[in-house]
Amino acid sequence: MSNIPYIVGNWKMNGARSMLSEARAIDRAAARFPKVQVALAPPATLISAMREAVQDIGVGGQDCHAEVSGAFTGDISAAMLVDAGADFTIVGHSERRAMHGESDAVVRSKAEAAQAAGLSVILCVGETEAQRDTGKAEEVVAKQLKGSLPRGEAAAAQLAVAYEPVWAIGTGRVPSVKDVRTVHKSIRAQLVAAYGEAGSDVRILYGGSVNADNAAKLMAVDEVGGALVGGASLTADGFTAIIGAAGLADEA
Ligand code: PGA
Repeated sequence: MSNIPYIVGNWKMNGARSMLSEARAIDRAAARFPKVQVALAPPATLISAMREAVQDIGVGGQDCHAEVSGAFTGDISAAMLVDAGADFTIVGHSERRAMHGESDAVVRSKAEAAQAAGLSVILCVGETEAQRDTGKAEEVVAKQLKGSLPRGEAAAAQLAVAYEPVWAIGTGRVPSVKDVRTVHKSIRAQLVAAYGEAGSDVRILYGGSVNADNAAKLMAVDEVGGALVGGASLTADGFTAIIGAAGLADEA
């Protein structure tokens, strides 16, 4: 596994041009931690301006359509994200799966379209609270991976997987270190089964209520190769503390 942690901020439907100053401050902070890979996924309306505003960090989309172009009102293709200056996109976030009815097959087609357009992909998976309570977390995540991992020779090289328990997103609740380790190990096994040796290099991020206080603990867990951060990525102060924690965990 790449030992450079990958810390990604997902701004969701938050942010206007006035927030580019936060992105600039995050970019400056990231430059102080060359052993941490940092990226932001702002709303699509900000990708191009953010790309211009920052130097060191990656800039990406939060979703893309599986088709290149056409009559899909309101949607954005991977090629358009590239054109706007994105270098990656998130796909399969639980908010897309739940609120836009995205199936594993749809998520896979988006991931494959994104990679075909030259983007790297952060593929999100994670169980609901009811699924965790009935002991089905690993099974649910395995099924999501089976149905949504992009296929193809080079797919693993441009991929990160984000394990985001739905019940931990935006709630301030995080799974125990033991539970994170268990699910991440099982994701690793699936990646190796799907891609062979290349599957051992895919970074597996943890997401769901990551903040300055819990980041160091989570980053130190086996097979946690970074974090996908929502709320705490909206300010430079909050996000920089997480980048710093990942930088220190890497040195330890
Ligand atoms: P959160 O969101 O950090 O606000 O819990 C994480 C995510 O949805 O990616």
